[in-house]
Amino acid sequence: MSEPLDLAAFPPSFAWGTATSAYQIEGAVAEDGRAPSIWDTFSRVPGAIDNGDHGDTACDHYHRWPEDIALMKGLGTDAYRLSVAWPRVVPGGDGPVNKAGLDFYDRLVDGLLDAGITPSVTLYHWDLPQALQDRGGWTVRDTAEHLAAYAGVVAERLGDRVTRWATLNEPLCSAWIGHLEGRMAPGLTDLTAAVRASYHLLLGHGLATAAVRAAAPGARVGLVTNHSTVAPASTRPEDVAAAARMDGHTNRWWLDPVFGRGFPTDMRELYGVELPERQGDMEAIAAPLDWHGLNYYFPVTVADDPTGPVPHAREVRLPDVPRTGMDWQIDAGGLEALLLRLTEDYGVRELYVTENGSAFPDTTGPDGEVHDPERTRYLEEHLAACARALRKGVPLAGYYAWSLLDNFEWAYGYDKRFGLVHVDYATQRRTVKTSGRRYAEIVAAHRAPHAR
Ligand code: IFM
Repeated sequence: MSEPLDLAAFPPSFAWGTATSAYQIEGAVAEDGRAPSIWDTFSRVPGAIDNGDHGDTACDHYHRWPEDIALMKGLGTDAYRLSVAWPRVVPGGDGPVNKAGLDFYDRLVDGLLDAGITPSVTLYHWDLPQALQDRGGWTVRDTAEHLAAYAGVVAERLGDRVTRWATLNEPLCSAWIGHLEGRMAPGLTDLTAAVRASYHLLLGHGLATAAVRAAAPGARVGLVTNHSTVAPASTRPEDVAAAARMDGHTNRWWLDPVFGRGFPTDMRELYGVELPERQGDMEAIAAPLDWHGLNYYFPVTVADDPTGPVPHAREVRLPDVPRTGMDWQIDAGGLEALLLRLTEDYGVRELYVTENGSAFPDTTGPDGEVHDPERTRYLEEHLAACARALRKGVPLAGYYAWSLLDNFEWAYGYDKRFGLVHVDYATQRRTVKTSGRRYAEIVAAHRAPHAR
């Protein structure tokens, strides 16, 4: 049994939202002037994506967005986190702006606002224009500068209506999974490339922050990072040290520079890669932000692994712990701990859970309903963790469930379903799952006393 949800812990202004990203839902990859991104390319690499899936059609959101806004309205949510596809807006990565691409997001933002839903726009959710990858992608400095120019273009167009902006989504995944582990686009396995990419992503974040603020003076800009709590598999000093390295790799490398502490020295030594630092970069990376977004899914437990890849820490599978369909350990306590860490250790004053959710193999019942008790429970447990964090003083201002819709789950293709709303990809029919109904109930119950 999940603990009862302490709804009174959530402030009246709390933003209840859902989240998606462009490549995962839009489809229409060759429409209205969009050029290929690194994910269009990567999804054509044999064996890269389960079942050979790709985002060509995805949830067809590019055409069905009015229906999707109606779904959000039906859930009673009042916030929506979307990403803008760089290759729709500046197809070459730099250079000419594609008006038709911008027009799409213009319509979407207006549609959301008409429905009483506040959009939160992420500028980069992994879909780098392929043209920039051909010139070195995130391993070269120019890409950071091009991100800032593109960010300025989008903010200029949407900044009169959009206030909450995120520069990047989960730069960890772009750098470590995309350039070191090779499981995501662009599919490299090169430590030097990965460290350089991590640096340029954060530099791009800093430059884009300034560009958004210059183009849209009322903008409130933040960064979205994903984190895990890290525990050692035993009390052996080697495992404890491995956990510290994994914490550096997963958490400190991304937070310390953004919060003005510079890149952690222990990790710089471990990577042994010279950072392409120029004067002024660290100040740009550490530009004070208006808010921070935490994406949380699972904790990790690690053991020392001296011969394994950086950070020489091997994930250990704990027996008898609940796991999602991604094989990720379920522990809502990790969310509470990370919210507290961001508040107490890094001094964040406005926080959002910008993603949190779970994939399970859903089944459609004979009644046509999609019953997903495990996802419902995951949602309830993680909202309870938010409530505990709020009671402890965490300035949590909103929660965006990942995801509004089942969608293209990157290297896992369409088999892994994270949606509160089921998508039948053959017909594009949307069906609100039991978890979606439960979320709607929670939102309504929280809103009710404040509406009076
Ligand atoms: O689907 C992804 C999303 O794009 C980024 N955060 C994690 C989600 C689930 O893996």
